Amino acid sequence: MLYSDTDFNNKTILITGGAGFIGSNLAFYFQTNYPDSRVVVFDCFRSEALFNNGNLQSFGHYKNLIGFTGTIICGNINNKNDLSLLREYKFDYIFHQAAISDTRIYDQEIIMKTNVNSFYDLLTLAKKDDAVMVYASSAATYGSLASPQTVGKENPENPYGYSKYIMDQIAYRYSKENPDMTIAGLRLFNVYGPREYYKAKTSSMVIQLGHQILDGKAPRLYEGSDQIVRDFIYIDDVLQANIKACNPKLNGAYNIGTGIPRSFQDIADILQKELGTVLGTEYFPNPYDGYQMHTQADISISQTNLDFKPKISLEEGIKTYIPEIKSLHGKDIS
Ligand SMILES: NC(=O)c1ccc[n+]([C@@H]2O[C@H](COP(=O)([O-])OP(=O)(O)OC[C@H]3O[C@@H](n4cnc5c(N)ncnc54)[C@H](O)[C@@H]3O)[C@@H](O)[C@H]2O)c1
Repeated sequence: MLYSDTDFNNKTILITGGAGFIGSNLAFYFQTNYPDSRVVVFDCFRSEALFNNGNLQSFGHYKNLIGFTGTIICGNINNKNDLSLLREYKFDYIFHQAAISDTRIYDQEIIMKTNVNSFYDLLTLAKKDDAVMVYASSAATYGSLASPQTVGKENPENPYGYSKYIMDQIAYRYSKENPDMTIAGLRLFNVYGPREYYKAKTSSMVIQLGHQILDGKAPRLYEGSDQIVRDFIYIDDVLQANIKACNPKLNGAYNIGTGIPRSFQDIADILQKELGTVLGTEYFPNPYDGYQMHTQADISISQTNLDFKPKISLEEGIKTYIPEIKSLHGKDIS
């Protein structure tokens, strides 16, 4: 599916974080639709290193890239020597996905270094190469502000959300200082779809609940989950956003969601319908104080300035995703 008239054939495209969920989907998108594009994936991949809370430090996985025929560079965005390997290319487009993507990491220093400092380096590279920069921001910039979440009213409530908020400010300033550059940030809401499995506990509830159901267990949800809603967006609509963000009417940060909030209970119910099970739901108390109960992206400016049109409902997204959920069930995650 082509999302714009831009021809990416014969273009050189850098995807940082290209071994992760969204980055690897982007890599295959270009490989499939623009076979003459030159795609360079830059990712530190997954090591055994853990954060204090026991979560992995990075989720990039070679299995996400099996079949990818472009260039792969294993490197760390925190390491200037590794980044210098990119200087031998001249990029036309940079899709910057690499980040500590785990919202429950609270080590502020490592989050700020990884997500923020590296952004200066990649913007410098984009400027040198005259490349379009599309980078991943996040709905976490809004914290638990009431819906609809709207660009211009932010209140990050964890180091991850703060790092993305600072990236948006850096991008804004950089755009002002370099008015000829194209820089667009995508504030992604809750993305789900193929190639997220290796995010383990941080993968979407769609695959986690799907695997609980395939284990023959009732999906486990917080009490009141029919009232806890999120703006869930299927990966293909996120690819659409990345492609359209290459030609924004204006530089800036853009919300990327469907604009339609759906509950966690909806996910469990749709999965059971698709998987043909009637296991009910097991409820347990929500342990978190101040838990975000409602997200809904205000996508009006994204529609106007990016021509972004989310197309895939939660029902369609889950239906399309079911074969991958089934095929990964019980598969080794290491
Ligand atoms: N998936 C979502 O729902 C969602 C929502 C909001 C924002 N985002 C953002 O979108 C981007 C992609 O997210 P994702 O879901 O694909 O996550 P992901 O963890 O699968 O991808 C991030 C990739 O970055 C790599 N990486 C991490 N630290 C690195 C480092 N120091 N050097 C080089 N590579 C490094 C990882 O190995 C991984 O492959 C991230 O910036 C994330 O913050 C994602």
